[in-house]
Order: sequence, then C-alpha cells, then structure tokens
Amino acid sequence: MLKPLRKAVLPVAGLGTRFLPATKVMPKEMLTVVDRPLIQYAVDEARAAGIEQFCLVTGRGKSILVEHFDLAYELERILEERGRQRELAALRADMLPPGMVVSTRQQTPLGLGHAIWCARHFIQDDPFAILLPDDLMLCPVPCMQQLAEAYRETGGNVVAIEEVPRERVSRYGVIDVERDMGRLVSIKGLVEKPPIDQAPSNLTIIGRYVLMPEVIGHLARMEKGAGGEIQLTDGMARLIGSQPFHGLRYQGRRFDCGDKAGFLEAQIAFALARPDIAPAMREILARYA
Ligand code: G1P
Repeated sequence: MLKPLRKAVLPVAGLGTRFLPATKVMPKEMLTVVDRPLIQYAVDEARAAGIEQFCLVTGRGKSILVEHFDLAYELERILEERGRQRELAALRADMLPPGMVVSTRQQTPLGLGHAIWCARHFIQDDPFAILLPDDLMLCPVPCMQQLAEAYRETGGNVVAIEEVPRERVSRYGVIDVERDMGRLVSIKGLVEKPPIDQAPSNLTIIGRYVLMPEVIGHLARMEKGAGGEIQLTDGMARLIGSQPFHGLRYQGRRFDCGDKAGFLEAQIAFALARPDIAPAMREILARYA
C-alpha cells in the first residue's frame, strides 16, 4: 500500500541577493505577488494537494516566515471590533492548524540537498513533498496536486518537469529520459546544471518534488556537486534503479520569482488571473502597450 503524502519541506534559507536591498532584512519568500507573499502561495498549493504537515528550513534572519503562520491575535481582535469580517475570514483561512508547522535551521548554506537533509527528523520514513517558493506556479490544477496524483499512479519519486530552450539548460537540474510516455516520463538519470553540450535533454526539473525518504541517506554522504554545493539532484540520482522515478509534464505556468523579470511578470499574470484586480490591471497594461 502506498503511503499517503502528508508532509512538505519548504527550503527558505536562501539569501535572496538578487533582490537586494529589498531582501536586506526581509526574507525573499515574503516578497509579495499581488497581495500574498511567496511562502503563502507555496503553502496554499501544498494544502490543495492534501499536505498537512510543513517544515520550513530557515536560516538567520528568516524567523518572520515562521511568524507569518502564527495567530495574529491583536490584529484579529481589532478586525473583529471594527466588524471587518471579510478580512478576518481571509486571515483565518490562511492559518494552519496548531502544531502543523515546524522549522529547522540550515545554519550554513551548503546547498539545496543539505537543506533537505536538515529536515530529516521531520521526514522520518515518510514520502514527502518539496516546494521551492521561488518557483511560483499558476496552474489550472495546483501543481503539487498534479504531482500528488501522479505519485498515486506511479508510486516512488515524481518531479515536475518542463521543456526549456537548449541554451538555458545549465540553470537547472536536467533529466535523462528512459521512456517518454507523454504526460509522464520515466527517468534514468539526473544531472544538476550541466554544460549545454553535456545535457542529456532539455527537460528540466522545476521546484516541485515528491520524494521517498531514502533520499536522505544519500544526501547524508555530503558529497559536493555542481557549484561546490550538496545538490538535491545528486541525492535523487542515486535513487534511480532501486525505486520508480518519474517526471511529470505539469499543466500550467511557472514564474521564476528568484529573478527580477520573472517576478514582475508574475505580478501581471497573477493580477490578470484575479477577478478583483484584473480589470484595473488590464487598464494599466493598455497604457503601456
Ligand atoms: C534548484 C535545483 C534545480 C532545479 C531548480 C528549479 O536550483 O537545484 O535542480 O532545476 O531549483 O527552480 P536553484 O534554482 O536553487 O539554483
């Protein structure tokens, strides 16, 4: 019997240097698209996929991300006194049940693989999701829900993938295809940030994963990979052969909010997808056409 997917790890220890000075004191995951911080989008997406337990892998100066999921008692009281029921309900809907968010510190930025290894006591021996909040997804069915459905079909490990122009492959984890079945692809190899001429395909991993707990044992070897960092991709590659490993061509769009242009495009796309703000946004865009 397949173990249900109930846990998610959100690595949020990155420094956000590309967004300085905005991220000098504020974590990049608190950057806001329309009116929700990136971290909230990631949590919403995970909840839509049935995830109940969250682990934030934080670093120094990132405590506000944990605070964000705490009860805002004073604020709630004031909203209540002022009869602002709509705002109050929205705030409450975003709350996670008590005890469902934990955090751990990465202490030293040794790479994404190391960040995930830091969550090992949370993961224990359960399957788990990973969501990288920088990758903001706009999908007809929430991306993690698509992955969770694929996991129920295939079992084992599933990563969301997308095609990118060949010249951009070196920015990503790239998959080596064993069998291409269209929506699903079985994977026979994974390489992190390969040089263009060594990339096994132009199918890249985006920041959404369902992984088996055995990956932790491989990450524990602390082997350095691309960029001298302990890479999640390398740990995942070691699972291939002993467990199913699939890529899912997800339906929807990804915005790289770790990048200024990607972040600005996300503002526009998310505003246009919101009935309350779309008409105003369209008017604004018409002025710049
Ligand atoms: C990370 C992963 C990479 C993946 C990417 C998706 O890279 O290491 O495999 O393709 O996220 O956003 P990073 O963006 O942290 O360099």
